[in-house]
Amino acid sequence: MSNYHIKHLEEYYQVYRKSVRNPEAFWEEIAEEHFVWRKRWDNVLSWDFKKPEIKWFEGAKLNITENCLDRHLPTRGDKTAIIFEPNDPKEEALHITYRELHERVCRMANVLLGHGVKKGDRVCIYLPMIPELSVALLACARIGAIHSVVFAGFSSHALATRINDSDCKIVITSDGSFRGSKSIDLKGIVDKALEGCPGVANVLVAKRTNAKIDMLKGRDKWLQPLLDEAYADCVAEIMDAEDPLFILYTSGSTGTPKGMVHTTAGYMVYSAYTFKNVFQYTENDVYWCTADIGWITGHSYIVYGPLANGATTLMFEGVPSYPDYGRFWDVVEKHKVNQFYTAPTAIRALAKENLDYVEKHDLSSLKVLGSVGEPINEEAWHWYNNNVGKKNSPIVDTWWQTETGGIMITPIPYVTPTTPTYATLPFIGIQPALMDENGQEIKGNQVDGRLCIKFPWPSISRTIWGNHDRYRDTYFSAYENMYFTGDGALRDAVGYYRITGRVDDVIIVSGHNLGTAPIEDSINEHPAVAESAIVGFPHDVKGNALYGYVILKETGESRDRENLRKEINQQITEHVGPIAKLDKIQFVSGLPKTRSGKIMRRILRKIASNDTSNLGDTSTLLNPEVVQEIMDNAL
Ligand code: WTA
Repeated sequence: MSNYHIKHLEEYYQVYRKSVRNPEAFWEEIAEEHFVWRKRWDNVLSWDFKKPEIKWFEGAKLNITENCLDRHLPTRGDKTAIIFEPNDPKEEALHITYRELHERVCRMANVLLGHGVKKGDRVCIYLPMIPELSVALLACARIGAIHSVVFAGFSSHALATRINDSDCKIVITSDGSFRGSKSIDLKGIVDKALEGCPGVANVLVAKRTNAKIDMLKGRDKWLQPLLDEAYADCVAEIMDAEDPLFILYTSGSTGTPKGMVHTTAGYMVYSAYTFKNVFQYTENDVYWCTADIGWITGHSYIVYGPLANGATTLMFEGVPSYPDYGRFWDVVEKHKVNQFYTAPTAIRALAKENLDYVEKHDLSSLKVLGSVGEPINEEAWHWYNNNVGKKNSPIVDTWWQTETGGIMITPIPYVTPTTPTYATLPFIGIQPALMDENGQEIKGNQVDGRLCIKFPWPSISRTIWGNHDRYRDTYFSAYENMYFTGDGALRDAVGYYRITGRVDDVIIVSGHNLGTAPIEDSINEHPAVAESAIVGFPHDVKGNALYGYVILKETGESRDRENLRKEINQQITEHVGPIAKLDKIQFVSGLPKTRSGKIMRRILRKIASNDTSNLGDTSTLLNPEVVQEIMDNAL
């Protein structure tokens, strides 16, 4: 019997047991029955978390786009694959069928081939949420090129760092992007980035805003005329199961962003299987994930997971507040959305607005509500459940990461009874463990610890691009034979998991992962700044906001503080992007440091959160006197 679609709680437990007792047999059956392969695998799984080396479906040959497109053509050729809902509701939505999408992907693939892009080459995609974005991902996959999507809210500096880290030879972008009432000069950002990227030979530019932009002769080309001329079919490159499919950068505790590498077969199987079950997708449903494709949520649950299931997936270009705070609900009503997947920060922002924005829309099509990216607090959970789901649509609080490729801990709607703020049970095949500080697993229930995973799942990332040592050190060295997530979690009396947040220096602001290092680096580049440290503090909409402690150089001391604050945030906007701006900036004379010179962020975090009754052990501090000063002047 197929275990592809789980419909009852007993079935979940039964399939879960099967998946952990004999993972190879389990995943082999799923892979065999639900995907098309050019050649079968020789071996389902080989792994060693020490090296670390993980291989799924080794020896198999396939192309993921044949699974996402070609195989649907006979039965679903005229079905809508992508609904494109533009930023401006007055502009007409597009319905792109599977046949049309196949053709668009083939044309784009041929354009890439025509520009010398070959299997294994890296292609940087820096596009707004327009159909060309999904098409570009799939076009790369069609020819075996590795896509590296950079979220189009990142600055030119952040873009250049990512382009150079993975040696992209071509960039796909647009003249600009629309976000609510604003339009953004994306091409200008790309031009600035490329001043520092000598390896980029071509820039393909999609037209969206019709803004006047500079086109560099020989390097920059308008995409549409090339697509119009290109041949509408393109033979798929046959890939090995473990060939890289894409690189996606995520923030680390320290240092530069990490280019997480996902490979082809395992990623396909797991993103598709989780999509089917976590959203209980059935034929003719309309599914909408509000994430940007610049993040992993968009890769797995706007593009690959839905398309591998022949689903209709909605791409939304705009923002929840434009033209008013009812936009999400307007889109749900207009397209009769059945599954809606968003982030807690969006829910909290909308919950602040008048309830009329929700109530004037017919949301009766909704069957499943999803949440992702950060812990969902109880108030937001109830607001979502009461006002959007009308207590009729289960909420799936899905915990996962860029590194995991797919959803790891989650309820299955209509199957798993939900509890607010709990991601509940491990998904099929996932073996979580809670670890203590001495490296021991904490067994039993009603415990909390550091969240690890004991056994590989098909879509675990395989390495960090160009830095396998960092991959091992970050994820596999904290606990022997375990993948360490960087999150803390508790397991309650019935075995449900609740994610309590990061235990490292990654800060999640409005659902976006931000590492402290690149932000501090950009602050320190300001001529008046000597040193800085940033920490997160609780914020009622963003979840966390950033608090910066800044030491000025002597030359900066006489400067106007408000102006300095503005300049520092401007500096961050240019180096990282507006998402990393600081909410509070406190000028200090020193930072609390240990004798080995490490900043004690724990103390700074407590001061930023206004929680100074117990600062914990401060005996290893080199300079305890600055703590009092910082507390006295806290913002
Ligand atoms: C956090 C996003 C609590 C967590 C898919 C994780 C969550 C990080 C949840 C990964 C959730 C994600 N509950 N925390 N449901 N989902 N997180 O790589 O800290 O952008 O480690 O992947 O977001 O963020 P990333």
